[in-house]
Amino acid sequence: MPVEWAGSGPSLLVTIDRGSGTGLRSQLEDQVRAAIRDGRLAAGEPLPSSRELARTLGLSRGLVQDCYAQLQAEGYLTSRPGSATRVAALSFPAPRPGPVPAARGGFAVADFRHGVPDLGLVPREDWAWAVREACRTMPDAAFDYGEAAGPSRLREVLASYAVRVRAATATAGDVIVGTGTQQSLGLVIDALAAAGVTTVAVEDPGSGATVTGLATAAGLTCVPVPVDDDGLDVGALRRTGARAVLVTPAHQWPTGVVLTGPRRRDLIAWAREHRGTIIEDDYDAEFRYDRDPVGSLQGLAPDCVVSLGTVSKSLAPALRLGWIITPPRLREAIAHGKWLADRGSPVVDQYALAVLIESGRYDRHLRRMRAEYATRRGTLITAVARHAPHLAVTGLAAGFHAVLNLSPTTDEQHLIAEAADRGVGLYGMATSRPRLILGFGNTPSRTIEAGLAAIADLLAA
Ligand SMILES: Cc1ncc(COP(=O)(O)O)c(C=O)c1O
Repeated sequence: MPVEWAGSGPSLLVTIDRGSGTGLRSQLEDQVRAAIRDGRLAAGEPLPSSRELARTLGLSRGLVQDCYAQLQAEGYLTSRPGSATRVAALSFPAPRPGPVPAARGGFAVADFRHGVPDLGLVPREDWAWAVREACRTMPDAAFDYGEAAGPSRLREVLASYAVRVRAATATAGDVIVGTGTQQSLGLVIDALAAAGVTTVAVEDPGSGATVTGLATAAGLTCVPVPVDDDGLDVGALRRTGARAVLVTPAHQWPTGVVLTGPRRRDLIAWAREHRGTIIEDDYDAEFRYDRDPVGSLQGLAPDCVVSLGTVSKSLAPALRLGWIITPPRLREAIAHGKWLADRGSPVVDQYALAVLIESGRYDRHLRRMRAEYATRRGTLITAVARHAPHLAVTGLAAGFHAVLNLSPTTDEQHLIAEAADRGVGLYGMATSRPRLILGFGNTPSRTIEAGLAAIADLLAA
């Protein structure tokens, strides 16, 4: 049971540093969030009144009210008219003793791990609401084994979402729902193997390791194709003789470059000439900054592109939900593979995703996260300019990772080891040029600045 404090609520240990360069509201929000996450404020516990907290900290009451409203929107707090603002009851598990969760790393100062969104900002309340709504509104028949490709309701919602947001060309019949990009890739590779494809090309650098495992299991060979500043080298792809290629056109994994218009056209021409298949991994395109959105390749060539979507970046990897938009020629084989694999993904979760998207809460979450990641991206650019002005940051068009191009003489592995000794988690690209992949999805702004400050002298070397 939460402690019921008398009077205007408990006092709260918050320190505001006016010289830190971080906004007052961000400081307050970050600290209240942290207090809830690590259990210093328990579910149901009342917060100090906005008037009281503003007075104690010397802030305006409006600023405190804005902060409470934001945390309420994120699901951390609840409030009812005439009653104190409280820590949300459903949202957070009791603090667990033991090690810090892997995502925030065993790194005391900062962890620039890439590939994960902010796990502290997962819209738990919205998801819990959507699951409840799904359970409440699903017809009885929906609790049976359903279509392996997923319930038509979700497939309709995903198709219309992809058309609206990614300029895709799709209807519900083109969509197959699965447990994320990993499963989707396996299903598509199996379907391609069944159609007689023997070689699949992958970007280099890219997701070669993952794809090689799946391709080998299906009896296919993987060939690497170089990526330059314009994206995949389509001329080099032509020379491989492959009839399928995996690409990340909107934000290349891991270099972050965007496949240029001429390369897109050339890639589609390659596919049409060779009856090839382009597998488009559209993993983080929702998060796009200061440039025009780039539509999906699938929208330009639905006859030869298989597009893979996932909620692992937009919501959370733990949900294990993703989808495939496929040309008709592969649909049956992919859907059959899904049936063989697991008879379909959990149906309640699929209805919940449909409810979440249809309600507008998914878009709202994306808007909020886009603003948050844009701030972190700005912090990263500023911090590199301050602590390593001689190094270029690239790959910033989208997503929540960027690339720090190190001096050619830097030993990437040695730098990573030295940074780890100082409590900073760094991850290298492991190519011929020393480069770091700096993830900022699960790395708050203040941590980004602290992490780069802690290794400034190492980056100067
Ligand atoms: C390039 C790329 N695409 C997609 C994903 C998402 O995979 P999944 O949907 O299986 O979580 C990841 C995960 O890190 C990734 O690195």
